[in-house]
Amino acid sequence: MTAAMAMLFHSPVDSAAAWRGELTRLAPDLDFRVWPAVGDPAEIDYALVWRPEPGLLASLPNLKLILSLGAGVDHILGDPSLPAGVPIVRLVDSDLSDAMSEYVALQVLRFHRRDLDYQAQQRAAIWRELPQKGAGERPVGLLGFGEIGRHVARRLKALGFPVSGWTRRERKVDGFVTYAGAAGLEQLLARSEILVCILPLTPATEGILCARTFAALPEGACLVNAGRGGHLIEEDLIPALDSGRLSAAALDVFRDEPLPPAHPFWRHPRILVTPHIAGVTNPRTAAPIVLDAIRRFQNRLPLPTAVDRERGY
Ligand code: GLV
Repeated sequence: MTAAMAMLFHSPVDSAAAWRGELTRLAPDLDFRVWPAVGDPAEIDYALVWRPEPGLLASLPNLKLILSLGAGVDHILGDPSLPAGVPIVRLVDSDLSDAMSEYVALQVLRFHRRDLDYQAQQRAAIWRELPQKGAGERPVGLLGFGEIGRHVARRLKALGFPVSGWTRRERKVDGFVTYAGAAGLEQLLARSEILVCILPLTPATEGILCARTFAALPEGACLVNAGRGGHLIEEDLIPALDSGRLSAAALDVFRDEPLPPAHPFWRHPRILVTPHIAGVTNPRTAAPIVLDAIRRFQNRLPLPTAVDRERGY
């Protein structure tokens, strides 16, 4: 690592103190600055960000590389003044994939084992056994079959669920049935009793969880959204739940975060709400990955997690 490298950190949710501790332990020369205490913007080489203020990155004239604090980069690409020539890297951390897998497995098991029904029965002191299928009879469809999606799929498969995956472009994955494109989406939906979204948010995936999608699922299917709030047409969800088209939804992400207190999702009996915690970045495991990306960049080595701006991830 070269000396006098300056990094600007910006995040409304991640701990600057924890990141400073991990990064400066590994790179003692790092000049770590926390927004809004930017100092001289011309001195900033690297920006490590989550939901940067629009215009912030453009205000750093010598910025060399933008590093996302999360796996998704929609929070960066949405800035209309994003500097054109500066490469962006996503965070690919197996710890984050583990965390996402735990969250998805938790919700899939809750739906599969009828946890919401048993909770309702407990509230009414009802002792009643409900019909229960085996995991092998409960097909799960994953929208998004990249690094994280494949990790989630392996965990669900180990629990006995038949798992298939959907991607926008054809992708063969050993041990799994995969579908691609618009026709493939219909096929995946038709067989998915539990639909899990972990897609990146791009113009092509925005609003993919809509009434049309719900109508293509088996009657009474369940939805898990751990992608982005923008994947879900929020207005379509409650009517689908109230009509029985869907039987439950677990949502970790929302159009407006924090989810406003008056939002009907908070109180719907068939919706589980969590505050965007499915895959929280862990500075202990992510700091070496961030520094490695910088080292690769400095040594002009390929950046395997570089973002294709056109594709959106
Ligand atoms: C979290 O939402 C992430 O993009 O890692």
